[in-house]
Amino acid sequence: MAAVMMPGGPVADAVFADLGPRIEKLKENGHTPGLATVLVGGDDASARYVGMKMQKADELGCNSPHAHLSQDATTDDVMAVVREFNDDDAVDAMLVQYPAPPQVDFDAVLMAIDPDKDVDGIHPTNMGRMALGVPGPVSCTPAGIEALLAFYEIPVSGRNVVIVGRGVTIGRPLSLLLSQKRPTANAAVTVVHTGVPDWPRYTQRADIVIAAAGVPGILQPEHIRPGSVVVGGGVRYEGRKLLPDVDESCEEVAGWITPRVGGVGPTTIAMLFRNAVEAAERRSAP
Ligand SMILES: NC(=O)c1ccc[n+]([C@@H]2O[C@H](COP(=O)([O-])OP(=O)(O)OC[C@H]3O[C@@H](n4cnc5c(N)ncnc54)[C@H](OP(=O)(O)O)[C@@H]3O)[C@@H](O)[C@H]2O)c1
Repeated sequence: MAAVMMPGGPVADAVFADLGPRIEKLKENGHTPGLATVLVGGDDASARYVGMKMQKADELGCNSPHAHLSQDATTDDVMAVVREFNDDDAVDAMLVQYPAPPQVDFDAVLMAIDPDKDVDGIHPTNMGRMALGVPGPVSCTPAGIEALLAFYEIPVSGRNVVIVGRGVTIGRPLSLLLSQKRPTANAAVTVVHTGVPDWPRYTQRADIVIAAAGVPGILQPEHIRPGSVVVGGGVRYEGRKLLPDVDESCEEVAGWITPRVGGVGPTTIAMLFRNAVEAAERRSAP
């Protein structure tokens, strides 16, 4: 029997519906939330992503100041823009679109972002806050996956969750989130990677498998338990073609599964705006 689909769109819509009145309240109190974006160079996909985020900011009634630096911009040039946004009271949150041209030290740029304005939640201070359970911007894709499971009322607490991949964007922060003591988390989490060559032994017993490897088709039907929950986080692009970690045939074995397109992606963007609005709320608090 085919698995029940868990598209990310309705999850994102619910998040945006919650953010709408909160944005209005901030505006009534004299502050329009501002999400700044920094784009370096002329990469088409990056320009599209930034454009999409600016358009969403506009739809939600947020400000979206933008800086576009040339392809030959230096690390210092990018840092100067980041510092300007750090000092700008109208900016609550900012993102520097990845990837940047090779001469730009992206890690150094990330370190320069004021952690309170780090909308992607990837600054070491925010990773630390998340590990400690202290409020702050939470890494967007992991937060989106937790929200997705909650939205579809997938029980997570007390269940056996296996994450394939320990990368800093998804696997590692997600393992921290889903093991925290919260009704939408509270799971027994196992993280597998290339150091665990017999990883299917773990995924085959899991209640929930989350693929976050960036290896197209790494998760096959024989790797999952019939009726289990499968979330596809990892993707690779070949040109504009999206190649997900989860093979399509898993839909015949899983009980619940994210679609190949429009699964985790929309929830990531929703979490970005949730982080931005929460940053604005924290900054506007008396
Ligand atoms: N859907 C979205 O909205 C969204 C957002 C952000 C990122 N992503 C995607 O998420 C993926 C993960 O990104 P990331 O930065 O967290 O991780 P990453 O740095 O790309 O690392 C990939 C992880 O997968 C593991 N891995 C790779 N091949 C494997 C194999 N054959 N067997 C077992 N484990 C394997 C690696 O193990 P080792 O550590 O041992 O090398 C590593 O831990 C990427 O594809 C990225 O494009 C999606």
